[in-house]
Amino acid sequence: MLTTFGFRNLAEKAIMRCQKLASLSEDAGGTRRTFLSAPVHDCHREVSSWMKALGMTVSVDAVGNLRGFYPGTSSGVPRILVGSHLDTVPNAGAFDGILGVVLAVGLVESLDGQKLPFGIEVIGFSEEEGVRFGVPFIGSRALVGRVDEELLGRKDEHGVSVRKAIQDFGLNPNEISKAALSADVLGHIEFHIEQGPVLETLGQPLGVVEAIVGQNRMEFAFSGQVNHAGTTPMNSRHDALAAAAEWIVAVERLAQRTKGLVATVGFIEAKPGAANVIAGEARATLDIRHASDRARTEAMDELIRQGESIAARRGVTLKARTLLAQRAVVMDPFLREQVKHAIQKAGCEPHRMASGAGHDAMILAEKIPAAIIFLRTPGGVSHDPSESVHLDDVAKALECGFHLLTQLATSQEFLGRTCRA
Ligand code: GLV
Ligand code: MN
Ligand code: MN
Repeated sequence: MLTTFGFRNLAEKAIMRCQKLASLSEDAGGTRRTFLSAPVHDCHREVSSWMKALGMTVSVDAVGNLRGFYPGTSSGVPRILVGSHLDTVPNAGAFDGILGVVLAVGLVESLDGQKLPFGIEVIGFSEEEGVRFGVPFIGSRALVGRVDEELLGRKDEHGVSVRKAIQDFGLNPNEISKAALSADVLGHIEFHIEQGPVLETLGQPLGVVEAIVGQNRMEFAFSGQVNHAGTTPMNSRHDALAAAAEWIVAVERLAQRTKGLVATVGFIEAKPGAANVIAGEARATLDIRHASDRARTEAMDELIRQGESIAARRGVTLKARTLLAQRAVVMDPFLREQVKHAIQKAGCEPHRMASGAGHDAMILAEKIPAAIIFLRTPGGVSHDPSESVHLDDVAKALECGFHLLTQLATSQEFLGRTCRA
């Protein structure tokens, strides 16, 4: 096993690698790497070179997930997945998702050539954020067989469909079924920054995730009447943007008075989009989350009702469309216990917590046991260039990961499990 100094060296390398990947961007001035955009080729090249240097076999599946395989003691042994996502939000930080992939590579390096009774498949999911197509988790959905025709036909703001984006990247959408989980997968482990203030407030480097809240992503399209801003009296307008604005305030109010609910309108677009033209169309997104699926669904129904009533009062119509309805997910109890022990062995307190952010692990958990280990996020800041990590926490995460692999390698209960895929 590596010394504390060795884990620290690996942690330094991991942080430098995250920073290097942050420079591979669609935008000159910041990090933006959406699903199968041009810089994803560079990102794959870079991460592949690290994997190949460790003797891993690298491939890219038909939805663009980067997969590096480190074999186990023999060819017949099962495998585990370790990883996270390689796509980013616009103007992103360097660590959300990326750190989980880089740490997975670091964990393989920490084995120093030692083989375990399972292979390790390091996975860099191609899409988790939902930025380009409004639908998150395209990468992990392919592993559980949830990329359907509707998703493939969905278009980005330039009219490019998911199917076409896959083809343009040089991949074959007809081969997506080959990306599915194979029967030899024992589980998935994901390291991720917390993206919130809890661990920092407690002064703890690492946390074990017990559950991930459910979320809906929706699109609300208000349609009114385009007209002249100077000549149309205020009492005879059907202003789609004003209707959307009133509804956005209703969204915030409902979330403020509903315990545990978070609801966000993070995007709005008005057409035709000129200062002197009353908007005929306004399209807004809704991201709504709650630990209780029932509370989330009730709140969502209420916001549709309020949108319809606001629209009707203003002589505007509303079409609400669900892009994602993801139930809350409990992480695998056995793996959670193992993670707790591994965190303790690394000398830290295993704080048990829920995740308000979505993660690929919640999709994989439908079919295989999955666990998430959180790293403290300085200032609780994420989805922003100022996102950061502490070097010592990254070293502790690597040490915890090493202990976790060692524990699983000697657990008959784990090795005896079969995949539900
Ligand atoms: C992922 O970043 C999410 O939106 O939860
Ligand atoms: Mn993430
Ligand atoms: Mn994110």
